[in-house]
Amino acid sequence: SAIVEHVLHINDVVVKPLCKEQIIPAANGSLPGPTINVREGDTLVVNVINNSTYNVTIHWHGVFQLKSTWMDGANMITQCPIQPSNNFTYQFDITGQEGTLLWHAHVVNLRATLHGALVIRPRSGRPYPFPKPYKEVPIIFQQWWDTDVRLLQLRPAPVSDAYLINGLAGDSYPCSTNRMFNLKVVQGKTYLLRIINAALNTHLFFKIANHNVTVVAADAVYTTPYLTDVMILTPGQTVDVLLTADQPIGKYYMATVPYISAIGIPTPDIKPTRGLIVYEGATSSSSPVKPLMPATTDIATAHRFSSNITSLVGGPHWTPVPRHVDEKMFITMGLGLDPCPSGTKCIGPLGQRYAGSLNNRTFMIPERISMQEAYFYNISGVYTEDFPDQPPVKFDYTKFQQRTNSDMKMMFPERKTSVKTIRFNSTVEIVLQNTAILSPESHPMHLHGFNFYVLGYGFGNYDPVRDARKLNLFNPQMHNTVGVPPGGWVVLRFVANNPGVWLFHCHMDAHLPYGIMNAFIVQNGPTPETSLPSPPSNLPQCTRDPTIYDS
Ligand code: C2O
Repeated sequence: SAIVEHVLHINDVVVKPLCKEQIIPAANGSLPGPTINVREGDTLVVNVINNSTYNVTIHWHGVFQLKSTWMDGANMITQCPIQPSNNFTYQFDITGQEGTLLWHAHVVNLRATLHGALVIRPRSGRPYPFPKPYKEVPIIFQQWWDTDVRLLQLRPAPVSDAYLINGLAGDSYPCSTNRMFNLKVVQGKTYLLRIINAALNTHLFFKIANHNVTVVAADAVYTTPYLTDVMILTPGQTVDVLLTADQPIGKYYMATVPYISAIGIPTPDIKPTRGLIVYEGATSSSSPVKPLMPATTDIATAHRFSSNITSLVGGPHWTPVPRHVDEKMFITMGLGLDPCPSGTKCIGPLGQRYAGSLNNRTFMIPERISMQEAYFYNISGVYTEDFPDQPPVKFDYTKFQQRTNSDMKMMFPERKTSVKTIRFNSTVEIVLQNTAILSPESHPMHLHGFNFYVLGYGFGNYDPVRDARKLNLFNPQMHNTVGVPPGGWVVLRFVANNPGVWLFHCHMDAHLPYGIMNAFIVQNGPTPETSLPSPPSNLPQCTRDPTIYDS
């Protein structure tokens, strides 16, 4: 194994994906930022030099951070932000996982432009568990606003001006027709597409005209090969697919279009963002074949793709599902309302402001010191350890009646920084139940520091007898981010083998200020080896109010 070193220079950079020049925070001058390539077992060292005018942290989305919790990069959870004219060096080992992940800023909105691929290949001499591809190509989707992202309204989530493929808007948008992602292929060859959804707030369908692909990994976990013509990724998810150029020589569009799961909300007519696959030898005049895209409300297609993925039993790093469960939680998730702050005008229902919750708690991000420093140094008053294992009231989560008291109680969640503490090495099972308060919507829940087994997906209210019998304990998919079906549920399980403070949140960026999040504190194990180490001496300090979340 090797030490892989990178420098990320964060600067304010002028870009112009559509018709207008825009200043964005960017890493090494590009959108997306640089791809970081490592092999499993390597140590990654990244010096982040912040010469922008923004406070930033960089999160290594999906990396286990075993014994390196301080390097997780979650703003105000594991560190204070790197302030302008400062730097911080992240250093951690990458072990026990292979495939595609992403790195991104973990400060509200900045993830829009500060992100890139993190590619983890097998140790040298070890093969992929699939035929070696001819070439590997990262494909990153992003959401674009033709405005300074710091000025975006936060509640509700702002409608974006475009979707991009590898930073390019392509021919669906004005001024970008000639700036379209272009992949040249050789007929008969097989390509590994490392697909990343870096959009802030939107699940995305992806399709390539006339070509099927074979899914071989998702969230850097190998999967049973799965043949499909369409893919869906929630914000934060990745999919690795094999694409064989097995069609007649010509040009084929690839396209991405949002999947909008919120039921009953009118969906604007959004044009697909396109890229191009050009076969070697194609005549320049030939017109590209178009894919037939799913409708933006196609829940059935989204559900089929998501729920059909299974893990590759016996593959590299595969581990069987632990059968014994130590901690069981039932967590409701969804939207709610916050009383409108006096003196402001709120545009949410009932004249209030949008909020969200887990088990009726709206999570408040600490503002003075990071949670993990508060935990490590025993500083009280930063959080409370009383996150409930159940919602405070039970009702039909798939319906919402404004007249019942229990429903109204769930409509206005409690604002608190409450966490769930778990014993080292315990197995945690969580039923995540989507609620219809305001509107059911697929929330992509992301757990820092761990992969979890997704034992099942379903619609309606989770039934602990009927549904528990159908869980997949044999080859369930593994993820760090899972889209909970709108008006439905997922069951996940993970082993809390890494001490520290780990964020668990909706990966729609707009839902961070909504408070659809929580943190787990995994206690120390019995030995120094299994305990949270001291923070690095150069960990950024909060020297002034770093608040960037509206409170
Ligand atoms: Cu990719 Cu906490 O996020």
